[in-house]
Amino acid sequence: MVRHLRAEAHAGRMLPFIIEYQGRLAGQLTVAGITWGSMCSGHVGYWIDQSVAGRGVMPTAVALAVDHCFRTVGLHRVEVCIRPENLPSRRVVEKLGFRQEGLRPRYLHIDGAWRDHLVYALTVEELSEGLLSRWHRTRPGASQK
Ligand SMILES: CC(C)(COP(=O)(O)OP(=O)(O)OC[C@H]1O[C@@H](n2cnc3c(N)ncnc32)[C@H](O)[C@@H]1OP(=O)(O)O)[C@@H](O)C(=O)NCCC(=O)NCCS
Repeated sequence: MVRHLRAEAHAGRMLPFIIEYQGRLAGQLTVAGITWGSMCSGHVGYWIDQSVAGRGVMPTAVALAVDHCFRTVGLHRVEVCIRPENLPSRRVVEKLGFRQEGLRPRYLHIDGAWRDHLVYALTVEELSEGLLSRWHRTRPGASQK
C-alpha cells in the first residue's frame, strides 16, 4: 500500500497523509485522482481509528488538507464522495460547509457491489477565509466572540 501511495504521489496524482492523534497513528487522509488542465481537482478519502472517533479529528484533518490543496498545491476544486448511509462521514463534510451536488448512481465498486454515492464539493471561490479557521470558528462548542 505504501509503495502504491508513494508511486501515485511521485506521479503528482495523489497527496497521501497520515493522521496522528496524541502522538500515534490514528488514521489516513488521501487526496487522490488529482487532475490538472481545465479541471484542477482532486477527491478526498479518509478513515479514523474508532477509539478516537467523534472528537472532530477528521473535520480538522479535512480542513487542513483542503487549505493545503487550495493555497499551496493550486487546486480549484475538492470533492468527497460518500455512500448515503454513511451518516458519520456525511456529518464531517456538512459541518465543514461542503455543498452537496447530487447522487452518482452505482459510482464505486465496494463490498462486492456498485454503490451509489453522494457528491460533496468545495471550490476555492466558496472560501473567503481558510477552511481550518472557519471550522475553528463554527465548530460545535466554539466560543462565540
Ligand atoms: C467518517 C469518519 C472519518 C468520521 O471521523 P471523526 O473524526 O469521528 O469525525 P467527527 O468527530 O466529526 O464525527 C462525525 C460524526 O460521527 C458520529 N460519531 C460521534 N461519535 C462517534 C463515535 N464515538 N464513533 C463513531 N461515530 C461517532 C457522529 O454522527 C458525528 O457527527 P456529529 O458531530 O454531528 O455528532 C469515521 O467515522 C470513520 O473513519 N469511519 C469509517 C471510514 C469511513 O466511513 N470513511 C469515509 C468514507 S467516505
